[in-house]
Amino acid sequence: MSNYHIKQFEEYFQVYRKSVRNPEQFWEEIAEEHFTWKKRWSNVLSYDFKKAEFKWFEDAKLNITENCIDRHLHTRGDKTAILFEPNNPDDEAEHITYKQLHERVCKFANVLKSKGIKKGDVVCIYLPMIPELAISILACARIGAIHSVIFAGFSATAISSRINDCNAKMMITSDGSYRGSKTIDLKSIVDEALNETPGIESVLVAKHIQSDINMKDGRDFWLAPLLEDTSSDCAAEVMDAEDPLFILYTSGSTGKPKGMVHTIGGYMVYTAYTFKNVFQYREEDIYWCTADIGWITGHSYIVYGPLANGATSVMFEGVPSYPDYGRFWNIVEKHKITQFYTAPTAIRALAKQGTEFIEKYDLSSLKVLGSVGEPINEEAWHWYDENVGKKKSPIVDTWWQTETGGIMITPIPFSTPTKPTYATLPFIGVQPALMDENGQELKGNQVEGRLCIKFPWPAMARTIWGNHQRYKDTYFSAYDNMYFTGDGALRDEVGYYRITGRVDDVIIVSGHNLGTAPIEDAINEHPAVSESAIVGFPHDVKGNALYGYVTLKDVGESRNHENLRMEINQLITDRIGPIAKLDKIQFTEGLPKTRSGKIMRRILRKIAANETDQLGDTSTLLNPEVVQDIINNVK
Ligand code: WTA
Repeated sequence: MSNYHIKQFEEYFQVYRKSVRNPEQFWEEIAEEHFTWKKRWSNVLSYDFKKAEFKWFEDAKLNITENCIDRHLHTRGDKTAILFEPNNPDDEAEHITYKQLHERVCKFANVLKSKGIKKGDVVCIYLPMIPELAISILACARIGAIHSVIFAGFSATAISSRINDCNAKMMITSDGSYRGSKTIDLKSIVDEALNETPGIESVLVAKHIQSDINMKDGRDFWLAPLLEDTSSDCAAEVMDAEDPLFILYTSGSTGKPKGMVHTIGGYMVYTAYTFKNVFQYREEDIYWCTADIGWITGHSYIVYGPLANGATSVMFEGVPSYPDYGRFWNIVEKHKITQFYTAPTAIRALAKQGTEFIEKYDLSSLKVLGSVGEPINEEAWHWYDENVGKKKSPIVDTWWQTETGGIMITPIPFSTPTKPTYATLPFIGVQPALMDENGQELKGNQVEGRLCIKFPWPAMARTIWGNHQRYKDTYFSAYDNMYFTGDGALRDEVGYYRITGRVDDVIIVSGHNLGTAPIEDAINEHPAVSESAIVGFPHDVKGNALYGYVTLKDVGESRNHENLRMEINQLITDRIGPIAKLDKIQFTEGLPKTRSGKIMRRILRKIAANETDQLGDTSTLLNPEVVQDIINNVK
């Protein structure tokens, strides 16, 4: 028997040792015993860190939807696979059984085929958190099309640049979405994006908010009538384990977003195995991850990981504050949620409301609480533990990334003793290393450095779509024979890891990764702006908020600064989306630069964080005088 389900701390160590002593044998056993393959692999793993090439389960054939749906039909056909909780609490929740999911995915897959989508084609999806989102993803996977989900909060410009980058042929969207008391007209955003995307041949539109929208003849099609006329038989395409499953964009510290490519076999094995253990999932559980499927957390831990285990996975369309701040707890009580997985920013926002909203609801069904997306601060950790978990439900602080595909550092609940703000220990098969700035590995405990991973794991991203060189440069060139995460971390006296935050120019705002470069590019488009620099500063709900230092072309210009601020934020909203708006904008005479002309963000970060006593030596700057000027005029 393989070690599919770890139940004790001792067992964790045993299995961990086995997984790193002989990774190939370990993953082979897991893959063999718990998944359905159409053909076995010829080789478990081959890799070359220098070329940044990694292959797991080479030559194996499978279809991930057979693993996530078909194989459960005999034993769990009438079990709820997806439990959809709509935005409006008065609307009924929808229980989609595995049988129904099978039928809906097959029909959807046939619709894709009827519109000319074939294996290897890229399909972009821009949908709210409604069942069609999960179903369209699975329908792509059924026929071997590569899905690329774009979070439905991104702007038209962000959508078109992603569509063009991945050469998508089709877009799947809806008339609109509900967000609390608001509705958002998604289709008009898509229409604007599609003015710039010659490659898109067809658009499928789900009717959701019943709004009046523009449908372009010959290009746009309502989904419902197409689905109605379609057969529910759709054989699963035979895929190679290393064929791409999806592309998901994530911010980089420079340049445009990176289309991270995940492949089928390794991703499936790893997300399923981590889901089972990190959430100690059992057959009767009702699992809820509050993330949006537009992010990696939703891909791996709303769709693929849970369904591969035959779980019931909740999809929530709404927001935590609607109709009031008790909504999450209302849902926990209503569906008797057993595992609840959310982000620190949500916990902080809810904690701000006090405990009055929590006390109204029975949360006794909860067994495991999860946190993901950014470091969880001590206060939020304790609030979560005391008020939500009633000190009985272990908190799994799970560290991972879009690039890692699945959870990498985490406690195993009921086994690993937790420690506030610590992601604790590497998951099975994960070999972390802390590196110093000179490229030396920091051995032993009580050290702090840059977090790297020393050995391949099955769910690692395989490349950046269309730009393998960038993949190699970003992740595999900082240190030899290692994957560099971009995060800093420390290892405490017992070997527990605590993630200290990004060491590059990615800023995590409310759990969303934002690169400084695209935001600065958007600001610099403003005709009055000469230069800009963005840094993060601590924010009590969002974790970090954005501070922009902006120099104007005509310094003496008497334009109203408040108007300029609004215009700049509007530009950011148009180019990227409202999540990237700046909280503070300071107009400066200049930006501190090194003699080679590089903006010294480190200094700007200290000023934004009000730590001006820790600026260090500024005398070597090209223009040291601007520093004092900036400090004197802090926003
Ligand atoms: C951060 C989200 C501290 C980290 C799954 C990482 C975390 C980035 C944690 C990836 C955590 C994620 N503790 N920091 N538990 N989880 N991060 O790609 O900086 O959206 O590099 O993936 O989020 O964000 P991404």
